[in-house]
Amino acid sequence: MHEALGRPPLMLLDNWPIVKPLAVVASHDVAEQVSQSSSLLKYSVPKAPTVERIADLFGHNSILLKQNEEWKAVRTRFNPGFAPHHLMTSLLPMIIAATKPYLDILDTFSRTGEAFSFDLHTTNLTFDVIGAVAMGEDLRSQHIDQALEGDMIRMFKEMISTYADDKLHLPWWLNPWVSLRRRRLGNHISNQLRQIVRRHFESSKVPNNESSSKTILALSLQGTQSLTPRVLEETCDQLKTFLFAGHDTTSTTIIWTIYELSRTPHAMKSVRDELDDIFGPEGAPDSLSIHERLLAPGGDALIHRMSYISAALKEVLRLHSPAGSVRAPSMKEGFVVSTSQGDYNLNNETFVYLNHYLIHRDKAVYGDDAELFNPERWLQPMGNNIPTSAWRPFERGPRNCIGQELATIEARIVIAMLMKVVNPYSMSARDSTKLNLSCTQ
Ligand code: HEM
Repeated sequence: MHEALGRPPLMLLDNWPIVKPLAVVASHDVAEQVSQSSSLLKYSVPKAPTVERIADLFGHNSILLKQNEEWKAVRTRFNPGFAPHHLMTSLLPMIIAATKPYLDILDTFSRTGEAFSFDLHTTNLTFDVIGAVAMGEDLRSQHIDQALEGDMIRMFKEMISTYADDKLHLPWWLNPWVSLRRRRLGNHISNQLRQIVRRHFESSKVPNNESSSKTILALSLQGTQSLTPRVLEETCDQLKTFLFAGHDTTSTTIIWTIYELSRTPHAMKSVRDELDDIFGPEGAPDSLSIHERLLAPGGDALIHRMSYISAALKEVLRLHSPAGSVRAPSMKEGFVVSTSQGDYNLNNETFVYLNHYLIHRDKAVYGDDAELFNPERWLQPMGNNIPTSAWRPFERGPRNCIGQELATIEARIVIAMLMKVVNPYSMSARDSTKLNLSCTQ
């Protein structure tokens, strides 16, 4: 549709009465006007209530559903745990530890030659990372035999599966059994999370207790004098939200990166050269393995040196952005956005969809090779010509992604460990030729 209309910066998709008409934004200039704070809208254009349909999944107190000062209070509580410095210094060992079962599972498949789902095992990895950094829990998601996976993740996946088909759009009274099942699963998950939150709260009261003081949950409870039912429920819902918002977004990014590298030999070579440069060549005598180097003092600086891997990830997030943003202008009189084709008024009769697929493939910004995977475009000096706001997979402005640093640190570590041919944990050679990739999408 966008092509047929001559690639306008903004187009109206009118599916009324199924949903409100949708103003689809294809230009980063327009997206910026919607996502940034303004004198009229302190926290940008409000998020659309569309995610309420799946609220049983992450709870009705989720940050995703909050607006204005209520949103700000929750965001302020959880920001410290997601701060880049905290992730790099305190939470890095947890992220690295979660990659061990992942690499072991892939090595098993590489030895047996059996076909497997990269999606499943990478998603399980991301669940375990969130469990570790957010709440200091081993969620036991990663097993070759899925029957062994932990209870909470099993129930969370079951919950997600209840939204997997057209049931998402049905009102509860047309689908009462599914609604009941969601409530039941939601309660089970919340019960387990409540126990975790209570444990964290109790141990935060013990002076000089180091054991759980670093997780995102622990930092969010600092300064909380009493664990009231309201604080408890709100905290549980944010944990569910992190599980929901941080799992498939991060895993699809990792999988697309493996896919793009595997079909772009020069990029794969550049990644391996960079890793040899940072960690020393494969099998060098007396060299520490990659995870030991990352865990040693200064390990975070090694992650910052992964410029090519970062460029490859940036390019994957440009071409295969897993998210987007839907906004709902709240004012009847609307607000005006300026585009290259004139001014438009967006009022409360319309939803506004910041469409990353279109914004990130804009030829006016990215040139004729906009559709191609080209990590070099992000390396100097070419990267200088791309406006900052034209790359927005985590969205921009106050309602941007709280987990973006976690996602990119995790993805860099996983790609680095995966692309080194020797498994640092077992020191056995990974037969990468046997990791045959078959893409079903
Ligand atoms: C590659 C990985 C990721 C991508 C591309 C991504 C993308 C996004 C985007 C586009 C938004 C804005 C959504 C909107 O406007 O409706 C968002 C919000 C959010 N993301 Fe992420 N995300 C990723 C990973 C994560 C992770 C790992 C977590 C947490 C563990 C997380 C937690 C959240 C939360 C809580 C919000 C809502 C923030 C707020 O409203 O203040 N995300 N993400």
